[in-house]
Amino acid sequence: MLLQGPIWAGLLLSSALASKVAPDTENDATKLVPVEDVLVEIPGVDPPVEVHQVFLTVQDLATRKESPRHTQEKNVLLGRLDRGHGTWGPNHPRHRLLDSLYGFQNYFDRNMEDLNRLKKLYKNVSRQQKKLVESTIQYSSKFSKVEHLLAENHRLCQRIVDTALDFYGVERSELDDHIKTAEKNGKVAEKVSVSQALKHVVRDWSAEGLGERKDAFPCLLETLDGLFPDREGAKGLAKILLPGAGLGRLGHELSGLGGFEITSNEWSMYMNVMYRFLEEHTATAAESVYPFVDYWSHHVSNADMLRKVSFPDTPVNGSAVLLVEGDFTTVFQDKAGYFDAIVTHFFIDTARNIISYFDTIHKLLPPGGYWINFGPLLYGTAPFVQLSLEEIIAVAEAMGFELLDTPDKWGGLTTEGGKVRGWEAVYGFNERALTKNAYQSQFWIARKRA
Ligand SMILES: C[S@@+](CC[C@H](N)C(=O)[O-])C[C@H]1O[C@@H](n2cnc3c(N)ncnc32)[C@H](O)[C@@H]1O
Ligand SMILES: *[C@@H]1O[C@H](CO)[C@@H](O)[C@H](O)[C@H]1NC(C)=O
Ligand SMILES: *[C@@H]1O[C@H](CO)[C@@H](O)[C@H](O)[C@H]1NC(C)=O
Repeated sequence: MLLQGPIWAGLLLSSALASKVAPDTENDATKLVPVEDVLVEIPGVDPPVEVHQVFLTVQDLATRKESPRHTQEKNVLLGRLDRGHGTWGPNHPRHRLLDSLYGFQNYFDRNMEDLNRLKKLYKNVSRQQKKLVESTIQYSSKFSKVEHLLAENHRLCQRIVDTALDFYGVERSELDDHIKTAEKNGKVAEKVSVSQALKHVVRDWSAEGLGERKDAFPCLLETLDGLFPDREGAKGLAKILLPGAGLGRLGHELSGLGGFEITSNEWSMYMNVMYRFLEEHTATAAESVYPFVDYWSHHVSNADMLRKVSFPDTPVNGSAVLLVEGDFTTVFQDKAGYFDAIVTHFFIDTARNIISYFDTIHKLLPPGGYWINFGPLLYGTAPFVQLSLEEIIAVAEAMGFELLDTPDKWGGLTTEGGKVRGWEAVYGFNERALTKNAYQSQFWIARKRA
């Protein structure tokens, strides 16, 4: 595809899709046609003879997310990412960013290690058995198919890296140096977190994830809508915080209700790097990934395992949500009493110290502010305390939260006489798998007492 017209660094175009926008003659973003309205699909595998002229302006994408809030937060973020800020080491935000990019950058190699191991194991099947397996199902051809799709995913990962380098203002040479040092120290590129970030795209930003989202979103959206009926009145936008937001879909859904100022927060740089890619690749079905190609269990068919998932299933409006990167308990130091509601969605059990999460929630809410929770109690590897549901409620009440009544249409009460409700919510990414990962997730609304 030939690119003509003003194309600036940092813009990545899918080879299958071209976005065409009017030439930027007036510098007026509001005059630009939304990208999704002018998508020009280049049909088929063979490039058509016709060459599409592509005019894309950075202003178009940039002004769509750079509200004053976004600009200010980006400055704060870049400050925190500065090498001179704080102590340099594995926990430095820039170090964690570079580590995550090392992971994305090495997607193919890390996954080929696994594939090569599987190929080797197959050799242990006897000649006769192999003959049967090859003549009936051509088992070996699966290896080459998987390899091909890993290469496809790898291309996506490289573009995720490119977008991140651009967004965070990191030179390629710095990443190269970081990787060289890591390799010299025997530190292998992370594989699982990259795979998880790609799978999370299915949960948050694909049509396939709808079923999974439906377990939680209707309740949370309706709850927030009901708690803030006058949010567009004199008091102004209701301010909502979503810590541990993953790839942020809930916040974007919430923005659709109008009248909310939405802040999401995420600690994982694998998620954040993926989210920055989504923010720049906003048009429906602009991208695709093969999320299940790295795992051979629980498939009905090869077609299921090898299937492509396109994303996003709806345009991503970067300016509708502000992502604040970093640890929930530390990045909002200056925001005491700022948020009208905090929504912990599949989040509280991720804490090293769950009491610090509660302290932070309490501090960031004004008296009368709401804490809405939905999620499991799946504690991680080394949490300082591991509370049962009853213990959580007792601690929350002692801290100054009051549990509110909620409608029973959402689910049954978990304990007799209690206020917490529970129902099953899937967290599995792959709706066609022969396995299910779901939690009896717990829902409550707590209000900070005056
Ligand atoms: C189980 S995931 C849920 C993500 C999303 N809410 C969802 O339901 O799809 C929990 C998320 O919390 C993030 N997280 C863990 N500790 C955090 C912290 N201290 N501050 C912010 N995010 C954190 C993790 O990186 C992870 O993305
Ligand atoms: C598989 O085959 C390799 C090489 O022939 C051999 O070293 C290995 O022990 C075999 N593994 C098993 C589990 O039989
Ligand atoms: C994106 O979100 C902003 C802020 O909520 C809103 O003003 C704007 O109209 C939205 N754009 C689109 C195309 O929905």
